[in-house]
Amino acid sequence: ARLAVLISGSGSNLQALLDACAQADFPAQVVCVVSNVPTAFGLERARKAGVPAVALDHNAFGSRADFERALGDELEKAGVEWVCLAGFMRLVSADFLARFPGRVLNIHPSLLPAFTGLHAQRQALERGVKIAGCTVHFVDAGTDTGPIIAQAAVPVLPGDDEASLSARILAEEHKLYPLAVRLVVTGKVTLEGTGTRVAAQVT
Ligand code: GRF
Repeated sequence: ARLAVLISGSGSNLQALLDACAQADFPAQVVCVVSNVPTAFGLERARKAGVPAVALDHNAFGSRADFERALGDELEKAGVEWVCLAGFMRLVSADFLARFPGRVLNIHPSLLPAFTGLHAQRQALERGVKIAGCTVHFVDAGTDTGPIIAQAAVPVLPGDDEASLSARILAEEHKLYPLAVRLVVTGKVTLEGTGTRVAAQVT
């Protein structure tokens, strides 16, 4: 399966997907990486992996629609089948999603539906939850509201601060995203209406 990964920053989730795709038995390859931030370190990661990397600075476009049109064109040109948002700090509109129906995934550092939006790890600490984690979901026009594909949990430990909890969650993200991609591209998890049908245990 042909993946695109969209980033805005460090790209450690991108790196996890690149490493997974480098395994012979992994049923997907990253065919293009796009960042809306030209200086994102993740672009360097893509280049090192020999994957075409494009910076589309959203500030260089007259409107959100123009930016998303250029983004969609880039992905279609590369024959992308699945779009993985990984630290991509832009909401995508229904028009963009309509070009890749049921094919856009995102990873979020909380156990959705808890703590949508920014600083999810900080929200978890402030709420005093004892279990935190991360979620890979299909993207819909809302914010972190699409059907859930897979989740991973971590304990919140005494003395945790935003950095220590984020690091513990990020380590799980790096395992969860490749797992979720494998489940989706092999059809073991499918989008059914407003939910997902899971035909395989998330191991
Ligand atoms: C991760 O915490 C991810 O859950 C969130 O943004 C961060 C991306 O980190 N969407 P990276 O750019 O993949 O290192």
